[in-house]
Amino acid sequence: MFQLLDFRKFRDTPSVQFFDITVATSNARDLVYHEGPAISPNNNDYGDWQFYLHAHQEDNLLALSGGRTFHLVNFEWEDPYHVVRLDANRHILRIPPGTFHRSESDLNGSLVINQAVRDEAAEVEHEFRVYDSREIPKLRQLLSSDIQPCYHAFDRPQTDRSEDYPQAA
Ligand SMILES: [Fe+2]
Repeated sequence: MFQLLDFRKFRDTPSVQFFDITVATSNARDLVYHEGPAISPNNNDYGDWQFYLHAHQEDNLLALSGGRTFHLVNFEWEDPYHVVRLDANRHILRIPPGTFHRSESDLNGSLVINQAVRDEAAEVEHEFRVYDSREIPKLRQLLSSDIQPCYHAFDRPQTDRSEDYPQAA
C-alpha cells in the first residue's frame, strides 16, 4: 500500500519553517515544478488519463509549495483506487513500485521533491515511461466504472483546487 509519512518539524511558524525531511533509504532525487494546474503525466490526445508506473523505483513525494492531488491505482491492493491530497510541507507520500500514479496541481501550481529509492535494475528511461489508460483494458475499465476511490488527507480546507473533491479523511 501507499503511505503518508510524517517528518520531523523543528520549527513551523509562518515566517520560519525548518524540517528534517530525510528519507534514509533514498538514493535518487528529482524535483518537479508545475506552474499552474498542470497534470503529470499529461492526458492523451483524446483526453484520457495517462499514468506513470515505476517497476524499480519507490517514490517519496513532498510538496514544498502549493498542493497536488494524486490518483493511485494498484490492482494488488484490496481497494485498487485511491485519491490522495499532498499539501505543502505536510506529509511525504510513499508510492510503492508497480503503482499507476498521476497528479494534478492546484490552480497556483506546486513544487514537489521526490526522494526516490531506485533498485539496481532501475533505468531512468524505463521508470518514466507513460502508461495510457486507453490502451490498458484493466485500467480503462476501472476508470470508466462507477467505482468510488478512497480519499485521503482531504481534511484541510483548500481554496485553489482545480477540482472539487469531497472533504473526507
Ligand atoms: Fe513517480
